[in-house]
Amino acid sequence: MCPKIATKTTLWAAIVTITFINTIATHNEFVSCMNNYIIPFTNTSTYVYTQNMPLYSSLVSSQHNPRFANLSLSRKPLAIVTPQNEQEIRATILCSRHHGLQVRVRSGGHDYEGMSYLSETPFVVLDMRNLNSVTININDETAWVQSGATLGELYYKIAQVSKVHGYPAGICPSVGVGGHFSGGGFGAMVRKYGLAADNVIDAYIIDAKGRFLDRNAMGEDLFWAIRGGGGASFGVIVSWKIKLVRVPRTVTVFSIYKNMNRRAIESINQWQHIASKLKEELYIRLVIQYIHDNKTTPVQVLFNSLYLGETKDLTPLMNRSFPQLGLKPEDCKEMSWIESVLFFAGLENSTKVLLGNKTDPYVSYFKAKSDFVIKPIPKHVFVKIRKKFIQQKLVFMIMEPFGGRMSEISEADVPFPHRRGNLYNIQYLVKWEVNDVRASNEHIDWMRGLYEYMKPYVSKHPRTAYVNYRDLDLGTNREVNGSYLEGSVWGEKYFKGNFKRLVQVKSVVDPDNFFRNEQSIPIHRN
Ligand code: FDA
Repeated sequence: MCPKIATKTTLWAAIVTITFINTIATHNEFVSCMNNYIIPFTNTSTYVYTQNMPLYSSLVSSQHNPRFANLSLSRKPLAIVTPQNEQEIRATILCSRHHGLQVRVRSGGHDYEGMSYLSETPFVVLDMRNLNSVTININDETAWVQSGATLGELYYKIAQVSKVHGYPAGICPSVGVGGHFSGGGFGAMVRKYGLAADNVIDAYIIDAKGRFLDRNAMGEDLFWAIRGGGGASFGVIVSWKIKLVRVPRTVTVFSIYKNMNRRAIESINQWQHIASKLKEELYIRLVIQYIHDNKTTPVQVLFNSLYLGETKDLTPLMNRSFPQLGLKPEDCKEMSWIESVLFFAGLENSTKVLLGNKTDPYVSYFKAKSDFVIKPIPKHVFVKIRKKFIQQKLVFMIMEPFGGRMSEISEADVPFPHRRGNLYNIQYLVKWEVNDVRASNEHIDWMRGLYEYMKPYVSKHPRTAYVNYRDLDLGTNREVNGSYLEGSVWGEKYFKGNFKRLVQVKSVVDPDNFFRNEQSIPIHRN
């Protein structure tokens, strides 16, 4: 099933006659455009919140990285719109264009640099929280999921209908479908089924002209671009049709912590050589972290695994392929796939109903960066990393293995290009507890130092990065309309050769560059 177009033809005719006059609006002008011009006779007070309304502040502050919370009001939106249907999204786009405002689309609000709710120029936030339905058709093993749903809501709804289906997307349940799918999206089934974006088969988008388009109407180029090229450059993606994947009734998980001593570093080294070559049902990620606990060496490495099968098959497999880890049957837990989702989210003792809520247990001040690794990193680097982690403490290095299905899909299939040849992805994350400018700068500088230190050991020419771990240090569009050259500095890191095609698509579908931010795809200029 797919969402219906709510607009009448007469209203559509009114919309397309709007001229884009580019004056900066006051709250009242924007609201009155929404109220009278676009949607006659509707009461916008239930979904348009301006700075003088009590709900405005709670909507602004619902940010997952409160690092940006102290910013001045000039970087806060003129209004927050929480649409209930496509018509209200279309009105927001057209009224914003009419009044020279930018639109920032927020689904789950997890953007690492706040791109979904901050802007230097006057803007409106389109918050998709009310468009969060998940409609499953188990007969053809598909679902329509709206962008405002969280991954947890999606996983929960699938598990309510079937014990043998799942979806290969990210590990944190509070992440929004809208941002996650449009940047790629990987989790514990990445080796078996690839990215969330690889399993999208249709979508509805509203473009800069307010047109509501499915795959057929938007064309294959735009459909390609929104599956990994970042949605924010092309329009507002309302919903996605996905192909569900099969999961066994019983899966096995384990978490093995090791103090980061010489032996553990040896295991990390082995992992680097084998993790991307294992059977694709087996996913073992590593998390190097500082653990504040007097009993252990402060830096530990966690071997965290999902096996799409039973313990009786996993243990012999591990003994053959990764004996250094010394996995025993008692280290393993069998459960359903949905329970494994809770396990990976650190919510093991919670009920799966929690996934259906918009709970976010992960709110913190943080800065992150990412790398892809092509050749195993020498062991001495991990010795140095341990020393650096002891200095910094609240820091994590998450290493996600690729290979399997990821190596079978070509680099150009969707904009996410990091396929064959990539052993694993690294996410570096530093958190802090006090949000003053000095503390933030200190931690961010520390992170930049670690990133610089890692340079010789990771992918090169370009040094690649994952767009869903957005990092404005990689470069930004400084000119209003950006330029190909300026954009290619960061764009080729995220998208490699696919950046060129993304620019071509952008130039056709949004030639006025209405949907833009500091790292949106630029347009070609002659
Ligand atoms: P948000 O709403 O902030 O959107 C992100 C970007 O997409 C913004 O530019 C926004 O404008 C745009 N956008 C959002 N909705 C849109 C729509 N409907 N149409 C058009 N554009 C839209 N990643 C991963 O691959 N695997 C993982 O396991 C995790 N885990 C994880 C845990 C935690 C705690 C965090 C904070 C993040 C992750 N991520 C991740 C990264 C995550 O995939 C990334 O931050 C996503 O962009 C978040 O999507 P949201 O919709 O939540 O963000």
